Amino acid sequence: MRPAFLHPFASTTRESFIRIVRGEGALLWDSDGNELIDGMASLWYCAIGHGRREMADAVHAQMTTLETYSCFDPFTNGPAEELAERLVALSPLEGARVFFTDSGSESVDTAMKLARLAHVQAGHPERTLIISRTRGYHGTNYGGTSAQGIAPNKAGYGPLVGDVVQVPSDDIEALATLMKERSAEIAAVITEPLQGAGGVFPPTENYLQGLRRLCDQHRAYLIFDEVITGFGRLGSWFAAQHYGVTPDFLGFAKAVTSGYQPLGGVFVGRAPLEALEADPTFFLRHGYTYSGHASVCVAGLKNVEIIEREGLLQRATHVGARLGAGLQALAADGIIDHARGDGAVWAAGLKPDQNAMAIRDHMLKNGAIVRALNTDTNTFCPPLVITDDQLDRLLDIFATAATR
Ligand SMILES: Cc1ncc(COP(=O)(O)O)c(C=O)c1O
Repeated sequence: MRPAFLHPFASTTRESFIRIVRGEGALLWDSDGNELIDGMASLWYCAIGHGRREMADAVHAQMTTLETYSCFDPFTNGPAEELAERLVALSPLEGARVFFTDSGSESVDTAMKLARLAHVQAGHPERTLIISRTRGYHGTNYGGTSAQGIAPNKAGYGPLVGDVVQVPSDDIEALATLMKERSAEIAAVITEPLQGAGGVFPPTENYLQGLRRLCDQHRAYLIFDEVITGFGRLGSWFAAQHYGVTPDFLGFAKAVTSGYQPLGGVFVGRAPLEALEADPTFFLRHGYTYSGHASVCVAGLKNVEIIEREGLLQRATHVGARLGAGLQALAADGIIDHARGDGAVWAAGLKPDQNAMAIRDHMLKNGAIVRALNTDTNTFCPPLVITDDQLDRLLDIFATAATR
């Protein structure tokens, strides 16, 4: 019998799944009692680690006072306002405001829509073109499906959003040529500062700086999709700070609550804000039922508090250095082809005779979780609270699986 639950990103005929029942820090337990080291922070999001009671207590306190109430005009609530203030203070975008969503995909849609809308409000409705990069992943709503650069994820869904095109991921010249050709039509360029789900590819030298220059030259907005890199993964609150490049929109989700509640959002920077705020009679017709959900925003506040209190930005740098060095040593020993990554997110690039899925499955039987992307990549993105001992065990279990 197939389960009633139709799983996301899974074979439609798979009948049995690994049932995770408990978590604590970087450790998980399945329903057979097996202990697993979480090498992926679940799905790139659990920065503060699993099973934190103070998070449950904070959400419980809010829920027993007011679970939430709509933030559509004319209402608001305290946790949403407080979280917005807190996030703006951490954000690299000076004078920004935050729009709340429920997920990364909604953050991408929101940034794409607001970029086009800001041009309309600035008197340039012809600026509709959105440019993204191959290998990019921007979620699975229609906006993100249209903008993402992973071909199989786009197939079968009919016509996608119009005026969204991809350029080869590391080729700044290809981008410069396209932007020159279509200069007056461009609304925005969207990119992950470090491409994550496409295989963990840090930006090539000066790529992001070049992107910023091109966007300024052609009056296009620059959108950073920081759904994976936001909230500490690279050792700064945001990759924009890590790489020293400031976008006009910055989308986030995942580690804003470490996954304890579903939350996403978009920082809207000064330039688009000025366009959106210029007409005092303008009414923003975009929003989700749960934009600014009080019990969700409380989790965001608690998560930011924990990241600060426990020094998890510094911890990310330490975890990343140890993880990166471990993978590079495996490459030097010829066990894998190469390692790539930055901060606390890394990939093992495999040799042609290795298989990422087989390695993943072998690791699962031996107490650790990594992800397999295509046949040639295993990814690592552990909770930032992972201990050195757990990290070393994770690397050992990987090395054994990759050596077979
Ligand atoms: C860069 C990026 N953007 C968007 C998304 C989509 O986020 P969600 O699955 O929360 O909709 C993801 C998810 O992995 C992501 O990595």
